[in-house]
Amino acid sequence: MKKPIGVFDSGVGGLTVAREIMRQLPHENIVYFGDTARVPYGSKSPNTVLRFSRQIVNFLRTKDVKAIVVACNTASALALPTIQEEIDIPIIGVIEAGAKTACEVTRTKHIGVIGTEGTIKSRVYTQCLTKLDSDITVVGKSCPLFVPLVEEGLVEDRVTDDIASRYLGELKDYNIDTLILGCTHYPLIRNTIARIMGDQVKLVNPAYETTKSLKELLARKGLLMKEEKKEPVYEYYVSDAVERFISFADGVLPCNVSEENVNSIDIESYELGKDN
Ligand code: DGL
Repeated sequence: MKKPIGVFDSGVGGLTVAREIMRQLPHENIVYFGDTARVPYGSKSPNTVLRFSRQIVNFLRTKDVKAIVVACNTASALALPTIQEEIDIPIIGVIEAGAKTACEVTRTKHIGVIGTEGTIKSRVYTQCLTKLDSDITVVGKSCPLFVPLVEEGLVEDRVTDDIASRYLGELKDYNIDTLILGCTHYPLIRNTIARIMGDQVKLVNPAYETTKSLKELLARKGLLMKEEKKEPVYEYYVSDAVERFISFADGVLPCNVSEENVNSIDIESYELGKDN
């Protein structure tokens, strides 16, 4: 089916999921939305994250998407269960997939999760992991400065190293053997996190497993795109200036991102009930 897949995040983090969709589902068209004007979501209240997510879903529906991937752990934790009840197209988040992979990977059953304040406070990973295996113990740690550092492009930088050492140092006492990157921005500083945690801790990026689940879901619903000679169409929308997004996305994605396919929109106007 030619309709695109909608993917959204508070900013550039969801590009790590979009990148995986491009790899595993190379024929699918994608509409990506990054809420660059309102990032970060991690420190906002559940109600605000739900309101923002609803607006984005409304916007994506105007693009006639066939399915939506909430490429944001915070929105997956705080808004997805409600939105799932409200719409009639498939919508998936990143949390279940990440929890499932971590369960498969761990040997000691001591798992760490790093994420935004909203995600960690919601305890959604702990619930998911212990539902999968009640012997698992979970330690969560919010890393609120990681998102602004990534959004500022400080991916390989001493400031990021220092802050990461401080956040992750606390996890060292817990003897974890698996660490879930519970925020889609964090795979972008994966090298720094890996260096600090050491070889004995396996890092789980939920993007891979989420895309596998998406593929299965689309196949089950008969929504997979047939193989085509034509290149897929990728469109990007942001709520703030396009320039910063373009240079970032161009570095992360396996395709060219230019002014031709990135647009800035007024996301607030997609409030339910308003004429769009
Ligand atoms: N990348 C998002 C997540 O996975 C949101 C980060 C934020 O905006 O605070 O949670």
